[in-house]
Amino acid sequence: MDATTAAPDRIVISDLCKSYGDLTVFDGIDLAVGEAEIVSLVGPSGCGKTTLLRCIDGLIPATAGQVSIDGEPVTEPREGVAIVFQHFGLFPWKTVQDNVGYGLRMAGMSKREVRKRVPKFIQLVGLEGFEESYPYQLSGGMQQRAGLARALAIEPRVLLMDEPFGALDAQTRELLQFELLSIWQQQPTSMVFVTHAIEEAVLMGHRIVLLKGRPSSVAEVIEVDLPWPRTRETLSLPRFQEIREHVWGQLMGEAAAAVREQH
Ligand SMILES: Nc1ncnc2c1ncn2[C@@H]1O[C@H](COP(=O)(O)OP(=O)(O)OP(=O)(O)O)[C@@H](O)[C@H]1O
Ligand SMILES: [Mg+2]
Repeated sequence: MDATTAAPDRIVISDLCKSYGDLTVFDGIDLAVGEAEIVSLVGPSGCGKTTLLRCIDGLIPATAGQVSIDGEPVTEPREGVAIVFQHFGLFPWKTVQDNVGYGLRMAGMSKREVRKRVPKFIQLVGLEGFEESYPYQLSGGMQQRAGLARALAIEPRVLLMDEPFGALDAQTRELLQFELLSIWQQQPTSMVFVTHAIEEAVLMGHRIVLLKGRPSSVAEVIEVDLPWPRTRETLSLPRFQEIREHVWGQLMGEAAAAVREQH
């Protein structure tokens, strides 16, 4: 692991369990995420990745166990924690700049202050010129950039990403991956990055956490011992391919078992 991950843990998840009635989604989840660490979270569809992010964010209560951020138990959404949703999650009736400024307004910042802060983040994600546009006037990639800008605008200590690039075409996805990495290099935060794309998990993460089982729990934690900064060249390193193959094997084993179970 590189030096940036030696910082103290920011998110600590202990023995976390979440049930909906009779359905226990996950149980016994233990995980700590460092101050400037990216943890990629992978696992089969329905294993509880979104649910876990929502527990970390404080949007939903856990059934048992605890999440703490900077040593404080999470009981509700809190300042400094931003989430980028699986499906854009922009307000359709707000313009790009109002969407990007939303979290700042919620945090009690004056309209004037927000207007001063927002352009920096619009620029960071390359949406200059679209400040007055509404989400329906944007492409999927642009909407996702706006969602990212909204999360970054609050200058979060914790960034929770739920398949942020899942709905995008391959080129836009790759572009945004490297943009996010370069934003992270400039302002390292504690990030949990949920993805179905194995290459993306390897590229983005210091570690990959694999959820498996019903109820799910942490089946494996894979150290991604690839050099930083991660670039396009990273993708062709033999070690990259090795880790990718390993994760693929673990995930596909699970997927095949799930298909067998259905038949
Ligand atoms: N509000 C809810 N009420 C009841 N069950 C729920 C609720 N939210 C999620 N679930 C169930 O919890 C399980 C985990 O859902 P979750 O959305 O966390 O999965 P996921 O790993 O994010 O899946 P995907 O990869 O498809 O996004 C699913 O079986 C789902 O049906
Ligand atoms: Mg999900």
